[in-house]
Amino acid sequence: MILLDGKKLAQKIKESIKDEISIFVAQGKRPPTLSVILVGDNPASQIYVNKKIKDCQEVGIVSKPFFLPKDITQIELEDVIGSLNGDDEIDGILVQLPLPSHIDTLEIIQCINPNKDVDGFHPENVGKLATGRKGGILPCTPYGIMKILQEYKIDTFGKDVVIVGASNIVGKPMGLLFLWEERSTVTICHRNTKDLKEHTRGADILVVATGVPHLIKRDMIKEGAVVIDVGINRIDGKIVGDVDFEGLRDKVYAITPVPGGVGPMTVAMLLQNTLEVYKRRVGIL
Ligand code: GUN
Repeated sequence: MILLDGKKLAQKIKESIKDEISIFVAQGKRPPTLSVILVGDNPASQIYVNKKIKDCQEVGIVSKPFFLPKDITQIELEDVIGSLNGDDEIDGILVQLPLPSHIDTLEIIQCINPNKDVDGFHPENVGKLATGRKGGILPCTPYGIMKILQEYKIDTFGKDVVIVGASNIVGKPMGLLFLWEERSTVTICHRNTKDLKEHTRGADILVVATGVPHLIKRDMIKEGAVVIDVGINRIDGKIVGDVDFEGLRDKVYAITPVPGGVGPMTVAMLLQNTLEVYKRRVGIL
């Protein structure tokens, strides 16, 4: 069994980002700047945002955090984004999800300047991903998963890929990415899928992003499958994935651990996207 070590790969990517930024700064350029917006006090979101801010610091990206009250109005939040869109010193804008239920999330995402949308969630970037157009920004988690597969030389060509979870953040963009150049045959399952096991058992590569702890059991996978676990669930103070890792470990070809698999790669790709939009904005090609 190959353990797909996202933590190690993320560290390698962060080091190369740090080196690149230090060269730009030594040349007298300003460092990249990312604004991170957190609305309310969701404890999991607070942890993720703090990690993003800390990792920015580690590589030399300036982070401008905005901690906004949970009762902020739609218009007030749109105004904050509007001012960041117009601020030449800000390269990237990230609005941590989920937002409180009185906020229209898709409307908020649409307000972000697509060239500053480091999450790749704006419809313009989603459209570029869907149509295979260059110059878009890829969503961090699917992008990070592709990097893990590349690093471990896991070929996607002609593979049967099954994704469990059809969110806009992971499942749907992940499916589109596997469809690029018609490389893989993609199935996306979700909460209304009639017989989940029937699909997952056919997967050469299985990506699971549901938020249901230990949903995927040993009898639900094919011998020798590659399993990517996107889940981060807290149970009795312990972090577990959407996959029963212990049950699967001697049946898979390769698997991501939780923690230390996909999670660190999501943050690394956020930093990579921030560096990329910065380079475009300051004219470094
Ligand atoms: N919430 C869970 N994952 C993500 C992510 O990748 N980006 C943002 N902005 N919010 C999230």
